[in-house]
Amino acid sequence: MNGMFITVEGPDGSGKTTQLNLLVEALNSKGYEVVVTREPGGTTVGNSIREVLLSPEHHEMTPRVEMMLYAASRAQNVDQIIRPALARGAVVLCDRFVDASIAYQGYGLQYDMDQIESLNEWATSGITPDVTFLFDLTPQRAQERMKDRGQLDRIESRDQAFHQRVYEGFHALLNKYPERMILIDADQSVECIHDEVLDATLERLKNRGVKL
Ligand code: TMP
Repeated sequence: MNGMFITVEGPDGSGKTTQLNLLVEALNSKGYEVVVTREPGGTTVGNSIREVLLSPEHHEMTPRVEMMLYAASRAQNVDQIIRPALARGAVVLCDRFVDASIAYQGYGLQYDMDQIESLNEWATSGITPDVTFLFDLTPQRAQERMKDRGQLDRIESRDQAFHQRVYEGFHALLNKYPERMILIDADQSVECIHDEVLDATLERLKNRGVKL
């Protein structure tokens, strides 16, 4: 693939989406072709799956189905958006990807890790991010920020022990993939974080030889 695939991850309330939007603006103004997507969602099919996944009404959803729906949204995103954009040399920015399934369904729900990995191998057809920014915020700080957000969705409203396991899951991934994952202290000003993310992105784009 010619382009570069960047993902952002972190707990709910870590500010990753704000940072992703700022990064898109900065890369666009430098002349890069940037394609933005998210998970679950990013496509019409994916957005419909997102509604099913996040609706608080669906409290009966079993972990197996939850995992499959995240993977289904991801497969549509890969086929329709991510793979074609990378093939033509674009920078693809995706708000969450497979790491989220490992952290939330693997560590959070304690679902079988081998099954999560094989299902995701199928869903992504082996596409993995070149760089992942992990926005680091303790579950306690994340919860304080979420208070201002109004009604919580089905995943956000899980208990503190779940969110603690998700947090630990992200850190386990950071240890496993130290080259790919860049830890960002999410408890700094929006401007500071943006500068850090932009500098790291430009350096990786240069090293990879992605053209304007
Ligand atoms: P978002 O709020 O970052 O858009 O993500 C939606 C929710 O879905 C968030 O609580 C994290 C969760 N999630 C998973 O549990 N597994 C996944 O694979 C993904 C992509 C998201």
